[in-house]
Amino acid sequence: MVGDTCSFCELENVRKVFHRKNDEPLVAIDDVCCEIIEGELVSLLGPSGCGKTTLLRILAGLTPASDGTVRIRGKDINGPEPDFGIVFQTPNLMPWRTVLDNVLFPMEILKLKNGDARKRALDLLELVGLKGFEKVRPNQLSGGMQQRASLCRALIHKPSLLLMDEPFGALDELTRMEMNDLLLDIRRVTNATTVFVTHSITEAVYLSDQVLVFSTRPARVATRLRIDIPYPRSPELRYTEQFNKFEKLAGAALGVTR
Ligand SMILES: Nc1ncnc2c1ncn2[C@@H]1O[C@H](COP(=O)(O)OP(=O)(O)OP(=O)(O)O)[C@@H](O)[C@H]1O
Ligand SMILES: [Mg+2]
Repeated sequence: MVGDTCSFCELENVRKVFHRKNDEPLVAIDDVCCEIIEGELVSLLGPSGCGKTTLLRILAGLTPASDGTVRIRGKDINGPEPDFGIVFQTPNLMPWRTVLDNVLFPMEILKLKNGDARKRALDLLELVGLKGFEKVRPNQLSGGMQQRASLCRALIHKPSLLLMDEPFGALDELTRMEMNDLLLDIRRVTNATTVFVTHSITEAVYLSDQVLVFSTRPARVATRLRIDIPYPRSPELRYTEQFNKFEKLAGAALGVTR
């Protein structure tokens, strides 16, 4: 417990070593400790190749840690959990399925029989601005629209934990800013605890309750920032002194001078 809030996830001394054929072992993550509070949005900010995706995959139960413990709601994570939702850097929609059927896909693989799923999928698609595109194939959508659809797919089964790996990295700046606001809207509606990987200092500060800034590989937590700016947040916030102060702190931890 932290104050009167509940701990959702705890990482203790997490280390990951990749043992590679005919090569030295590669230490991707070293001694990472952190706590994520139920319902909060935490960004993992760090330089390219430092180990962010590896850490996200460990949280998702897709990659085992070499050492240390990952506990979610007090339970050790040893494999993928059905109530997690993941958004990858590329949308990875199935081209032969309609947008609606892509969104409904997790319900099929998790064998969740739920008569409300179709209605929920339609509601989510409306929430992300894809009303009217339910029946089209993904190749008729722009990159940003595809990523919106993949966000709906990650949310369809009401995950308790939403994991996002640089989901907006490939989008232009304006679309990325729109997607940031959309994510905050979605988070307000769903209340899912969210872990968000990004390279962008501004994106991390804008979205998060907490920013974990990582060192170069092996990833270690260099700085932990609690962004005590109240929600809802709006685009103009990016130009305020309070916001710039957090950007500077995160930048300094990354070794960026500006
Ligand atoms: N399956 C694997 N086998 C061996 N090495 C790996 C494997 N997966 C990742 N690595 C190595 O671990 C390190 C961290 O990789 P990771 O993908 O986690 O970085 P990242 O911070 O997500 O980078 P980026 O910001 O570029 O996406 C890299 O040096 C990478 O080569
Ligand atoms: Mg990555």
